[in-house]
Amino acid sequence: MRISSRAERIEPFYVMEVAKAASTLAREFAHTDRPMIFLNIGEPDFTAPPLVQEAAARAVRAGATRYTHAIGLDHLRARISGWYRERFAVDVPARRIVVTAGASAALQLACLALIEAGDEMLLPDPSYPCNRHFVSAADGRAVLVPTTAAERFQLSAAKVEDAWTERTRGVLLASPSNPTGTSIAPDELRRIHEVVSKRGGITLIDEIYLGLSYDSTFGQTALAIDDQVISINSFSKYFNMTGWRLGWLVVPEALVPVIERLAQNLFICPSTVSQYAALACFEPESIAEYERRRAEFKARRDWFIPQLDALGLKVPVVPDGAFYAWADCSAFGEKLGIANSWDFAFEAMKKAHLAITPGRDFGSAETARFVRFSTASSMAHLEESVERLRAWATVAA
Ligand SMILES: Cc1ncc(COP(=O)(O)O)c(C=O)c1O
Repeated sequence: MRISSRAERIEPFYVMEVAKAASTLAREFAHTDRPMIFLNIGEPDFTAPPLVQEAAARAVRAGATRYTHAIGLDHLRARISGWYRERFAVDVPARRIVVTAGASAALQLACLALIEAGDEMLLPDPSYPCNRHFVSAADGRAVLVPTTAAERFQLSAAKVEDAWTERTRGVLLASPSNPTGTSIAPDELRRIHEVVSKRGGITLIDEIYLGLSYDSTFGQTALAIDDQVISINSFSKYFNMTGWRLGWLVVPEALVPVIERLAQNLFICPSTVSQYAALACFEPESIAEYERRRAEFKARRDWFIPQLDALGLKVPVVPDGAFYAWADCSAFGEKLGIANSWDFAFEAMKKAHLAITPGRDFGSAETARFVRFSTASSMAHLEESVERLRAWATVAA
């Protein structure tokens, strides 16, 4: 069967290979005194809080399970608008909010609405792999621009200016980022948006980890800059609802009917039950629980990163958000005779019974030196992981 060149362009998700190997080894280690610890997971280890679960059950019992508007329940769009007002002091009218099947669908809709075949989008290297694939799936070309620790692994206005060609359509950023957990400073983001706007381009920003921000310098939405910025967000991370498949995007008003037309045809609507459940996310009791969990994520970061540094797994930029640590494993690996982060991840699985994610999926600039640890795991697991890494280094020395 002939496969489309579009599908062929989408690279395999190498993380899945690592995850497959991890679960095979996990079965082997299950009955040892060191079962596998999974620090490769990119989703919160919490589930939706009680009010959200109850709202979902109520919706099912009431038969509220038919299609909704393609762009989501009006009431939910209004609640999201309220969240921007209360949390970020930014006025984002509900009419500009489109509810989607996760940030993934939001990214797909935005790319399909705005990218012509052959258009190029600038993304930082490293960045979340699926984002460049959304560009590809819209027949665009993702151009990965190498970044440095001094740039917080993010694009700068100067780099965007340098990389811009007549084929460039815009930028696709993520702040805070996966895999680094680092954000773009608001002034730099403003400058990037100026460079992009002057050239008639589009600023797409994936703010899926914005709710999980630990530093008020960075924890601001790009929507405060300009109503032409397109922001993607989700109930997956801060709201702990990964499998519920619910997210949203905020677009300039003129784009809403275009996105609506695409959403009607491609998705009909986001999950109705999830939408009714999500209304309860914004109740004070739920927000209080989310804030408690955010504090827990911050406490884990504050403990874990210095431990990695002390082990020689340097985290060059302290993440200001999300639940990741982007660590340089080259020095640690060198002592053990390990050549790159891919081998390091497999050795860590076998020797320390620790599943982590090698840098490979996230780009090509420096990714052979970096691994991603996820701190979406209990403090006890993080402590045990550090002990195992220490023991691994000691035995090998
Ligand atoms: C940066 C980034 N964007 C988008 C997504 C997709 O999220 P969703 O579950 O909302 O589709 C993820 C998931 O890990 C992510 O890390």
